Amino acid sequence: MTSTYKIAAIPADGVGTEVVDAGKRVLAALQERHPTFALEWHDFDWGTGYYEQHGRMMPEDGLEQLRGMDAIYFGAVGWPGVPDHVTLWGLRLAICQGFDQWANVRPVTFHPGVPSPIVDAHERELDWVVVRENSEGEYSGFGGRNFGGREGSGEVAVQSAVFTEAGTERIMRFAFDLARTRDRKKVSCVTKSNAQQYGMVLWDDVFARVAQDYPDVETEKVLVDAMAAKFVLRPEDLSVVVATNLHADILSDLGSAMAGSLGLASSANLNPERRTPSMFEPVHGSAPDIAGQGIANPIGAVLSAALMLDHLGHPEEATRLREAVDKATGAGVRTRDVGGAATTEEVVEAIVAGL
Ligand code: NAI
Ligand code: MG
Repeated sequence: MTSTYKIAAIPADGVGTEVVDAGKRVLAALQERHPTFALEWHDFDWGTGYYEQHGRMMPEDGLEQLRGMDAIYFGAVGWPGVPDHVTLWGLRLAICQGFDQWANVRPVTFHPGVPSPIVDAHERELDWVVVRENSEGEYSGFGGRNFGGREGSGEVAVQSAVFTEAGTERIMRFAFDLARTRDRKKVSCVTKSNAQQYGMVLWDDVFARVAQDYPDVETEKVLVDAMAAKFVLRPEDLSVVVATNLHADILSDLGSAMAGSLGLASSANLNPERRTPSMFEPVHGSAPDIAGQGIANPIGAVLSAALMLDHLGHPEEATRLREAVDKATGAGVRTRDVGGAATTEEVVEAIVAGL
C-alpha cells in the first residue's frame, strides 16, 4: 500500500536551493524503487529574494499555508545584504517557534571514505545524537537595547535566557525516550550550572528527577566546556547528548566538523506531539562562498530527508537512503568540502545508483 504525504519544500537561499533540489531527486528515485510512499510536493519561494520584493521573509499567513502539511523540507536561510537576525527570525525561527518544534535532533554520523580530523575515527565506534532544546533557552528573544544616544558609557543590551520547568522536562523525556531506542542507552546532560546558578541548576534538577523514571538508562552530567573537550577526546562514550538551544547549536557543529564537514550534517525540528508539521533541514547555512557553483555537498539535505522518512513512519526506506549515501562516499564520490572533486550532481547520481 502506498501512503501519500504532503510535503512543503522551502529551499530559501544560496546552497539551500541546490541541496533541496538534490534531496527531492533522491527521494523521487527512492519512491520509484520502493513505492511504499508517495510525496506530494508544495513549493514555496520564501526567503531573502521574497523579502526583497515584499519586505518580509514569508507571507503573513505563511504558517497557515504550512499547517496542513505532513512535513516541511527546508534548505537554508540568509544572504549578504540583509542582516542574518532578520532572515533567521523571519523564516526559520518563525516556523520553529510558531509550530512549537521543540525538539531538534542532530545525529553525528561518520561515513566511509570521508576523512575526519580525528585521526583514528574510522577504527572507533562513533555514533551519537545531539538533542537540542529548540523552543526557549538563550534563543527566546527576550531582552532589549537602550541608551543608544547616551553620552559617556553608551548603549546597553540585555539578552535573557528563559528556562521553564515544562520546557526542560519535555526535552529531557524526549532524550531519555530516544536513548531507549539506541544500542547504548545513555543520556549526557550538558549545562553550565557552576557559573549560571538559576536556569542551569533548574536544568540539572529536572534531569535528575526525570532520570528516576528511566532506571535502565545510564546518565552523566557534563559542563559544556568539558563536553566540547569530550567530543574530541572521548566521543565513543557518547550516545544521546541533551543540551540547551545555544550549547547544542555549537556542539552539533563541532560534531559535524569532526565527522568531516558541516555539509554532511542533518537535522529534524520536531513537534513530537504531531500537532503541527515538523521540519527537516541540513545543519549548514546558505554558504554564499560556494553557492551557485554546483559543488555544495547534498548529503546533509539527503540525510535530513531520511530523518523525515523516519518521522513519517518509513524507517526501512530511511535506512536504504542512509546506506546509499555510505555507498557513494565509500566509492569516493565526494564533494570538495570532504576532500573530493565531485559536483553536487555527481553525488546525487551516485546516491541514486546506490539505491
Ligand atoms: P554556512 O553553513 O553557510 O557555511 C560555513 C562553511 O561551510 C562555509 O565555508 C561553507 O562553504 C561550508 N558549507 C556549508 N554548507 C556546505 C555544503 N552543503 N557543502 C559544502 N560546504 C558547505 O555558515 P555561515 O557562513 O556562517 O553562514 C552563511 C549564511 O547562512 C548566513 O546568512 C547565516 O545566517 C546562514 N545560516 C543559516 C542557517 C539555517 O538556515 N539553518 C544555519 C547557519 C547559517
Ligand atoms: Mg548552527
